[in-house]
Amino acid sequence: MTIKLNIKNASVNLASEECDALKKAAMSANASLHEKNGLGNQFLGWVNLPSSISEADIFEIESTAETLAETSDLVVIAGIGGSYLGAKAVLEALGDAFQPEQGRPKMLFAGHHLDEDYMYELIRMLHGKRVSCIVISKSGTTTEPALAFRILKQYIEKQYGKEDAAKRIVAVTDKEKGALKQTADKEGYKTFVIPDDVGGRFSVLTPVGLLPIAVAGFDIRLLLKGAADMELASGIDAAYENNICAQYAVVRNALYKQGKHIELLANYSPKLHFLAEWWKQLFGESEGKQNKGIFPASVDFTSDLHSLGQYIQQGERILFETVISIKNPQYEFIVPEDPENLDQLNFMATKRISEVNRMAELGTMLAHLDGGVPNIRIEIPELSAYFLGQLIYFFQKACGISGYMLEVNPFDQPGVEDYKRNMFALLGKPGYEAENQKLMTRIE
Ligand code: PA5
Repeated sequence: MTIKLNIKNASVNLASEECDALKKAAMSANASLHEKNGLGNQFLGWVNLPSSISEADIFEIESTAETLAETSDLVVIAGIGGSYLGAKAVLEALGDAFQPEQGRPKMLFAGHHLDEDYMYELIRMLHGKRVSCIVISKSGTTTEPALAFRILKQYIEKQYGKEDAAKRIVAVTDKEKGALKQTADKEGYKTFVIPDDVGGRFSVLTPVGLLPIAVAGFDIRLLLKGAADMELASGIDAAYENNICAQYAVVRNALYKQGKHIELLANYSPKLHFLAEWWKQLFGESEGKQNKGIFPASVDFTSDLHSLGQYIQQGERILFETVISIKNPQYEFIVPEDPENLDQLNFMATKRISEVNRMAELGTMLAHLDGGVPNIRIEIPELSAYFLGQLIYFFQKACGISGYMLEVNPFDQPGVEDYKRNMFALLGKPGYEAENQKLMTRIE
């Protein structure tokens, strides 16, 4: 079984020569990813990662995860961007909506923003609990997680003493560079390496994502197996007709050429909210450069049908929608009969809630299509580690292909530095004095 791509309602209106040219470009982009001869080719370690990760590496992640799980009530993950969103997406997708897995710690996140109240409330929440921390940063110098980690490190050291604190802190970072690596070496933390050739937003299938996912009690082997199967299905020898990653890249680029500049990733399950956040970073940071790129946005249905639904149906016609549809829910819940029927819902009675959700999904798709919003559907048989692994690799591969089709380097993010420079200048970081003066005259 595999995830399925349905482009029947994608409303691509290009001449057949243009479509053929896009297909050719997608196939050549896919080949470049495998042959490592395109832009940013020093960051293509993710392409063969699922099939090449070693048993020893998986075992080490699993055993560290078991130790953390056994000794902790709460595990705080400090990281941002690619060092946060992949793990968060998988935990939300696979986890129970209200409680941790049986016998596993509660997973909390820090360092993904700079809100003071959040930090205060997080530290207050840790009191009286057995706490561990996984700090994740490829560069080892990113301000948000570094700041959160400084606070968490001091808290844990105060509770357990320096020596025992070191057993409760795991660092995931570069093999040699960065302040985090230096701290980890000095303090003797257990450390996992983020490979040099895997960029942040493509790193969920390295220890960056795998360690938190394993601590939370989910099967990283199944996740990797799903990804490896998609790696094979979209390999260099896969024909276009069988390569759904290339097909998705072609359809979205065709729609972009038709003036559809915004892609809405839609879900009908709150469990997929953070998968969309991860997807937005993946596509936004990879494609949005040189004044080009489809703007990745997301909607949580049916909630957002009661807010953004109006715009989607009748606003500017610059949108297309990619729906992630889960075929089979994990549990069964039937709408009950009510003899009084005051709410007049008996016409739904004895149906499963998932059937009601499915009709909302199909009805919305047709309405949006009629309103001029093309529709791509990605169907997942069920929300399991295996299919999530397929989906993650599917999006990563499609993103690499699509970036090359747009003729940008999908593996850099030069624009992210600009806000950091201003923030450091405004905070008075040594070396930024001249910039501080210039910025102050603009904001005073
Ligand atoms: O995709 C990327 O490279 C970025 O989003 C990074 O993941 C993010 O900025 C965090 O960087 P780091 O892991 O170096 O702290």
